[in-house]
Amino acid sequence: MPEGGLEITFSYYYNISLSFSERYYYMKRIIAVAVALIIAVFAAMPAFSADSGAPEFFENERNIPNVMVADEFRTADTAEYPDAAGEKLLTIDLVSDTHIGSGSSSSYLRAGISTINAEKNEIDSVFVSGDLTDSGYDSEFSECYSILKNYTGENMITVNGNHDYGRWSQSGAMRPYAIKHRNEFMGISTQKDYYSTEINGYKVVVMGSEGNKPNSADISDEQLEFVREEVREGAQGGRPVFVLCHWPMRNTHCERISWPIIPGGALDTSTTRKLQNILGAYDNVFYISGHLHAGLNGRLTRLLFRGCCVEQHNGITCINVPSLGKGNHLGYTAKGTGMRLTVYSDKAVVEGRNFYTGEWLDNYVYEVSLKNAQAAVNFEDMPAMLPETPVLPGDEEAA
Ligand SMILES: [Fe+2]
Repeated sequence: MPEGGLEITFSYYYNISLSFSERYYYMKRIIAVAVALIIAVFAAMPAFSADSGAPEFFENERNIPNVMVADEFRTADTAEYPDAAGEKLLTIDLVSDTHIGSGSSSSYLRAGISTINAEKNEIDSVFVSGDLTDSGYDSEFSECYSILKNYTGENMITVNGNHDYGRWSQSGAMRPYAIKHRNEFMGISTQKDYYSTEINGYKVVVMGSEGNKPNSADISDEQLEFVREEVREGAQGGRPVFVLCHWPMRNTHCERISWPIIPGGALDTSTTRKLQNILGAYDNVFYISGHLHAGLNGRLTRLLFRGCCVEQHNGITCINVPSLGKGNHLGYTAKGTGMRLTVYSDKAVVEGRNFYTGEWLDNYVYEVSLKNAQAAVNFEDMPAMLPETPVLPGDEEAA
């Protein structure tokens, strides 16, 4: 037996000597099996939840065992469905990290657009929140946008991510392609990495990295001032505002778990603090990101890592959209995954969706309270004021 080893005698017939490295190997296997068993138990838990049918505001017959509620800071469980929602303001399909150029990602996007097209009359917009391509090559952008152009609905908005500016040593080299294709698609001309637009009278502010870090983002104070001004304008009258950025904020959505070794899973701490101050000053602001490939999260992720793909921080509704083209790390991990966001006056509902198969993922439905969000009103579309009612002969007698 090697020095320092362990001798285990089971019987007359089995006499096993284990070195330290062997003991370490077997301990790892035992721990892995134990963790797998725990995961299996928790993964099965939704199946035993009470099934009381879908809430009223889901139009189709659905089997939703539980709606997860994002309250201040994180996401918690609720066993009961929320009350009927208020006025519906906006419905948006969310996809991210399509990574065209990687494997069979284009087939996932093609199928996803087909699913979205089939329901285009139910939605107002589609957000694609970054890493459109895998390496940022001109040919990848051409392929990606040629697929996105098959969308026959309205208001598709694209965001650039770190992969769109080039990978690793090439980071930054592909920025001209990213800007050029984005501008052509969006019909804008700015050379900046950030811009803003509107959908149906609601402001959408798109953020972007101004540096060449291969993973994380460089957000200048000038950009933050732009965001502050756009959000201030968009939030007037109590309207919801949407801020899109490929990177989530620091310490949200399990970013430390999804990116434990390589830095760059989120905006840095200083930028996060400034941004939360800016966005938290207004009610009903949505911050929608991608980048993490952290999947749709349920009880297990929230229990183990205290995070979820839908969270609320400083009054800001934070949504991290899973990767459609490359698969994900936590919770529901399949390729083709995305979300549908429906904004009501008193709440927002986020529904998990596999756009590749068209399947609604009823174990992954989330709700966030809103503060009396107001509909955007276009005064030009309102009917002209009626003249005063004329007094006709005989009216005075009738009164
Ligand atoms: Fe990505």
